Amino acid sequence: MSISKAATSKVTLPKSIEERLHIEGLVSANEVVIFNSGTDVVQGLTQTPKTLPTHYLYDDRGSELFEQICELPEYYLTRTETKILQQYAGEIARITGPCELVELGSGSSTKTRIILDAYEKLGYPMLYVPIDVSAGILETSARQLLADYPSLKVNALAGTYELALAKILPSELPSRMIAFIGSTLGNIRPKQCDLFLSQITNALEVGEYFLLGIDLQKPKDILEPAYDDSQGVTAAFNLNMLSHLNRRFAGNFDTTQFEHWSFYNEREHQIESYLRSLRSQSVELAALNLQVDFALGETIHTEISRKFDLNMMKQQLTSQGLVPLHEWTDSDQWFGLLLCQRQF
Ligand code: TRP
Repeated sequence: MSISKAATSKVTLPKSIEERLHIEGLVSANEVVIFNSGTDVVQGLTQTPKTLPTHYLYDDRGSELFEQICELPEYYLTRTETKILQQYAGEIARITGPCELVELGSGSSTKTRIILDAYEKLGYPMLYVPIDVSAGILETSARQLLADYPSLKVNALAGTYELALAKILPSELPSRMIAFIGSTLGNIRPKQCDLFLSQITNALEVGEYFLLGIDLQKPKDILEPAYDDSQGVTAAFNLNMLSHLNRRFAGNFDTTQFEHWSFYNEREHQIESYLRSLRSQSVELAALNLQVDFALGETIHTEISRKFDLNMMKQQLTSQGLVPLHEWTDSDQWFGLLLCQRQF
């Protein structure tokens, strides 16, 4: 009797994926998912020049296409950042100690695995909080991670960064690191950047960490192909925004009547991406009660991808209370990874 009792008390079955997974969809006070209400679409398409909010690039199809972009020979960003992470994840883990990992725009969480591996190697408890507007990719990648890391817990948040950061609870672990990699910061307008960084600061306690990956300034002939590849994946990704709007808001955009267009604006240090109308046409979004007229060649601005100066970025972070402790780059200095700590 006593033997079997001792034996049973020793057996702790690994918890199932279901037990370790929690997914929350973020809704606003009036129960309308904010990124789904479409007021931002109306606003963008009724102004001159026309624009659309970036997050509409990332429905489930858009997230898939973006994963393909990350593998393109021209898109050096993912490869380069991955190399830096592989080299320094151990160092990052030693500096932060056991901590909850929050990731903004987690997507497939491929690069995140490098950080999780480093935490696992040091025997840290592992809690991952991925945040993404695409609920589909969020769940798929969370389940894959949970299958591969038996001690991992995932609390996923489906929603925009803004909603998620405002909603996030204090960390269950001794510390927290918010990771914002892939140079997604470059997709935020310079004027909104300080506000965004202050939302990060507010989601951290003093002493907690912010890991930022940014693409650095470099010649146009390297940058431009990265945003207009020879296989047309980037074009399909940008055009998919219109299919996404069609589905969400009962629209009738004809995606064959628009084209992807992007260029490097050297003065502003940013790639600018547009959808350009191939003829004069009129489009309707029935669910938004909206009709939009396009002239031949008229554009919708869909994205900026800023290219940063490492020292200027460090200053900006510091002014927001996020003090850079370490910076790492690749041998070409194409990409930068900054580990910052909230210090006030
Ligand atoms: N965060 C990515 C980047 O700025 C997003 C991106 C890659 C993108 N290629 C694009 C956005 C093409 C619009 C169009 O690098």
